[in-house]
Amino acid sequence: MLKKFKGFTFLLMLMTFAIVAAACDASGGSSVDVGIVLPTKDEPRWVQDEQRFKDALADSDYSTEILFSQGSSAKEKENVEALLNKGIKVLIITPHDGAAAASAVEAAKKEGVTVIAYDRLITDTDAVDYYVTFDSLAVGAAQAQYLVDNAKGSNAPLYLYAGAASDNNAFLFFEGAWQVLQPKIADGTFKIANSSEAEALKDSADLSRDQLGKIIGQITTNWDSNEAKNKAQTHLTAASDDLKGDVLILAPNDGTARSIADVFGSDSAITSYFVTGQDAEKASVQYIIDEKQSMTVFKDVRSLVKDAMGMAVEILDGKTPETTGSYDNGAVEVKAKQTNVIVVDKDNVKSELIDSEYYEASEFTGIE
Ligand code: BGC
Repeated sequence: MLKKFKGFTFLLMLMTFAIVAAACDASGGSSVDVGIVLPTKDEPRWVQDEQRFKDALADSDYSTEILFSQGSSAKEKENVEALLNKGIKVLIITPHDGAAAASAVEAAKKEGVTVIAYDRLITDTDAVDYYVTFDSLAVGAAQAQYLVDNAKGSNAPLYLYAGAASDNNAFLFFEGAWQVLQPKIADGTFKIANSSEAEALKDSADLSRDQLGKIIGQITTNWDSNEAKNKAQTHLTAASDDLKGDVLILAPNDGTARSIADVFGSDSAITSYFVTGQDAEKASVQYIIDEKQSMTVFKDVRSLVKDAMGMAVEILDGKTPETTGSYDNGAVEVKAKQTNVIVVDKDNVKSELIDSEYYEASEFTGIE
């Protein structure tokens, strides 16, 4: 009896070993619970998200892996497939292109993986389970309000720039901004300096997605600081004298804001400019201290990471994550958890970014 049992145990051990070995083999040697795919390492915003994920995961019980797509939907799909091969149960993904990412997340869904869109929505597919995001309409509205608050007199030249049309957020940011700017364009506070498409729609308070697309298509930076710089140069070269002097600039994020600011700052016919941003990137915080960029919209990535990982852990534990609303992605209403944003300029940069321990004072010059 004892002998038999021993033999059976040994057989069982052998079988278990074989199964584990096969599983390890199929997954390239290690298995991962949560896969995280971020769009590019070329922008500080996403490198920061990576770091904040690493900080938050330091003592997690679940294993994670972070991959970057380097601005390519093909690379993004490969990344998702690599993570699927490692047996992920949850995918947290910021798409490079919101529509093109549908096929990658559909592949994940087929494997029974729960998909969380992180910061950028994936559009026109039902293969997205959750969306963790900042309040992107509020980002655009805050940028626009800053320009309204700082415009003097009437017919103040207003330069408009937008993000990439492949990013759903670019629509939300611009829509939020337009709701605040449009009445002030209509009442003659602002004069649009660089967009015939926006000019043609200046009497419409609410824009359809197609109308937004027309304006964004004309003033897009593609989230690329070089493209932003070239566009700003072209606009200033074409601008008549009445579109120079004291100007206001809607720049969609910090990377583009700095390069647009450099162009406007070196034109002697520009007497003053206000320029917006978002992300509170370190380089822009320094620009704000140095009065080269007027404001940024601070999106505390620590909260977004906490929400995304909190959701992932609940899913892994077999629970249903809490959500606070939903976003229509063109195919379904995606359940969402949303985080608020904070306007930062020279007056509150220390209290919001240093006192909150987001950054250290020693990372900047001119701040105590
Ligand atoms: C993000 C911004 C970022 C931009 C460019 C947007 O989707 O919300 O924070 O600056 O993409 O990467």
